[in-house]
Amino acid sequence: MAVDTRIDEQGRGQVRDRDRDIVIDVRGLVNSFGEQVVHENLDLQVRRGEIIGVVGGSGTGKSVLMRSIIGLQTPDAGEITVFGEPTIDRDPTEATNIRKRWGILFQGGALFSTLTVAENVQVPLREFYPQLDQALLDEIASYKVVMTGLPADAGPKFPSELSGGMKKRAGVARALALDPELLFLDEPTAGLDPIGAAAFDDLIRGLQRTLGLTVFLITHDLDTLYAICDRVAVLADKKVIAVGTIDELLAMDHPWIQEYFNGPRGRAALAGRDDITAEMRPDRATAVRQAASPTTIDADDIPRDADTDAEPIPGTR
Ligand SMILES: Nc1ncnc2c1ncn2[C@@H]1O[C@H](COP(=O)(O)OP(=O)(O)OP(=O)(O)O)[C@@H](O)[C@H]1O
Ligand SMILES: [Mg+2]
Repeated sequence: MAVDTRIDEQGRGQVRDRDRDIVIDVRGLVNSFGEQVVHENLDLQVRRGEIIGVVGGSGTGKSVLMRSIIGLQTPDAGEITVFGEPTIDRDPTEATNIRKRWGILFQGGALFSTLTVAENVQVPLREFYPQLDQALLDEIASYKVVMTGLPADAGPKFPSELSGGMKKRAGVARALALDPELLFLDEPTAGLDPIGAAAFDDLIRGLQRTLGLTVFLITHDLDTLYAICDRVAVLADKKVIAVGTIDELLAMDHPWIQEYFNGPRGRAALAGRDDITAEMRPDRATAVRQAASPTTIDADDIPRDADTDAEPIPGTR
């Protein structure tokens, strides 16, 4: 396998040569639904400590790829390892040991509406560590809530009492409940206002640096790609057609890549790519995000039945 040993020249990641081992390894993945082939010999390697952005047109199979990696979707063919362990068709005990090591925020991932934020965060803790007493559960939940930038008094609140951005943060708090090494985020900024989305980007980058996380981030959001992703994987033609820094992708002449990154929206995002904080970013973010996402759907407007990830996975949503 070719391993890129360059230091992250923009200083955005904390990726070091010694850490460049592979956390997620997908080889020859094939997924189909009836006649529809979604993935055909798809390969992807995710390195430890990076934020990898996964982009592609709607319906290209980004969420199905994530579901395959976490063992929710059994592929027709292919091999997938996470932390060196296969995730396809594992027995439940072995699967549990791997699942403890990642956290997930599903696309449109709703919180349990009848549970408070703190109780939501405690769901995975109760599942994986049933012996923990309530006082400790409360303490861990408070810590996770504050860690995601929510006010301490958000813990006892119900999801209906939170703004969209706060709900996303609560979802991240729950995804972090088990101190994961790997975080999966499927369209986390969809439905957020531009300032909220930029602040969420900063949160993810901050958490990734502080906790040394590897982040698998599916997004349509060009600002997010420019702001926080170390590398970007492009899904098209049923496979990952390219993976690299945005500069490397820009040098490729694939029509989808050129249209996506070099079209008007991509150029607008590029214009604002300097490392700036959320507070400094609203004007540029407003322009770019409005251009890039003329219609966004608030995750909370999606009926639970319509949630493609409605299948319950205790501890992960
Ligand atoms: N359980 C399923 N049964 C049948 N078809 C499915 C199933 N899950 C996904 N698909 C199909 O697989 C294709 C890829 O879906 P997927 O949800 O991965 O797309 P996506 O790239 O995440 O799109 P978006 O950007 O809109 O979220 C779509 O055509 C979808 O309809
Ligand atoms: Mg999706």
